[in-house]
Amino acid sequence: MRLGTPLSPSALRVMLLGAGELGKEVIIALQRLGVEVIAVDRYANAPGQQVAHRAHVINMADARQLRGVVELERPHLIVPEIEAIATDELARIEADGLAEVIPTARAAQLTMNREGIRRLAAEELGLPTSRYAFAESLDELKQAIDGGIGYPCIIKPVMSSSGKGQSTVNGPDDLQTAWDYAKSGGRVDRGRVIVEEMIDFDYEITQLTVRAVGDSGEVETFFCEPIGHRQEKGDYVESWQPQPMSPLALERARDIAGRITADLGGRGIFGVELFVKGDQVWFSEVSPRPHDTGLVTLSTQVLSEFELHARAILGLPVTTALRSAGASAVIYGGMEAKGIAFEGVAEALALPNTDLRLFGKPESFVRRRMGVALAFGNDVDECRGRAKLAASKVHPVNG
Ligand SMILES: Nc1ncnc2c1ncn2[C@@H]1O[C@H](COP(=O)(O)OP(=O)(O)O)[C@@H](O)[C@H]1O
Ligand SMILES: [Mg+2]
Repeated sequence: MRLGTPLSPSALRVMLLGAGELGKEVIIALQRLGVEVIAVDRYANAPGQQVAHRAHVINMADARQLRGVVELERPHLIVPEIEAIATDELARIEADGLAEVIPTARAAQLTMNREGIRRLAAEELGLPTSRYAFAESLDELKQAIDGGIGYPCIIKPVMSSSGKGQSTVNGPDDLQTAWDYAKSGGRVDRGRVIVEEMIDFDYEITQLTVRAVGDSGEVETFFCEPIGHRQEKGDYVESWQPQPMSPLALERARDIAGRITADLGGRGIFGVELFVKGDQVWFSEVSPRPHDTGLVTLSTQVLSEFELHARAILGLPVTTALRSAGASAVIYGGMEAKGIAFEGVAEALALPNTDLRLFGKPESFVRRRMGVALAFGNDVDECRGRAKLAASKVHPVNG
């Protein structure tokens, strides 16, 4: 893969499908290497579209629209940033040799549906996971829980992300509400849910795993330091790196991450989500793309997860070395408004070894992630406190 000059016949063209805050950072990393970037999203002026060479607004779940934009732009690489894509069309695009899909079209197909990735992990690869079952009606759901999953358990639409439609159920009385919520919160109302045993973990991590060309000239697997994170209602609110782990738990985490990513194949970064209790490790899910909790790597690693993704997909060497410990804390919109402004930015940045990303999303919602505060230093706990303090100083206001 030869790097050329953007907007000229020698250009290497990369198309992002989804151009939110994670895509924006990948695009910036690609731009720095002189790659021509096309950002596609479902709404105009998405964060990544603001830093790309060209932008398109389409419904990415619509196969015809997806095919159309690929045929128009003829990218060399297609980089999915979200799950809600017509992945069968991606598979056809890949099979037709129209473009290379990162990491593979199959990975995008398997991970867009919790059923595909869970069955692969648990039933084909034999990775440890929570007990689980799938259900298409309230009755099936009850049977699955009574048949062994038990309470408390977690119910999620098979197609959803960021905790949408997900709820914890403590007993039979909560079931109807959880079922209704899952049906309304899923991406495609197929009315299919996964019910999982609740794992009483000590902590959860994202094991960022990079498949990139190594010294051997072949694709090798590289592991970042584990990222600890805290979720509220299934959505990430803070993350830190490195998460301290026992040597055995770390070894198991990397074994699981290495196996699932090897099966998904291709080149790029993967966010492997794992639950840890003592030395015990469970696979939860995997994103074949940068992970939101990995925003912390903007302040901790020699190459952020976004730079790692850019390098890996271009066939370039990587290093997963940590520069220092650090933390990230999410800044929410806190209001429903378009074109908001931010107060307190100077106060946040006056804190030592602190940084911010404001994503530039055109519209704010109360629980929409509008930015993130970053901190680095020697001590993870101190960094967590400082990142949260910085985030708390930034106040979204009416523009
Ligand atoms: N089986 C489980 N046991 C305990 N906690 C869980 C379980 N499943 C999900 N969670 C919690 O909910 C969060 C979001 O769930 P996840 O499956 O990752 O959904 P999403 O795809 O929306 O990120 C997890 O990071 C974890 O904190
Ligand atoms: Mg998750």
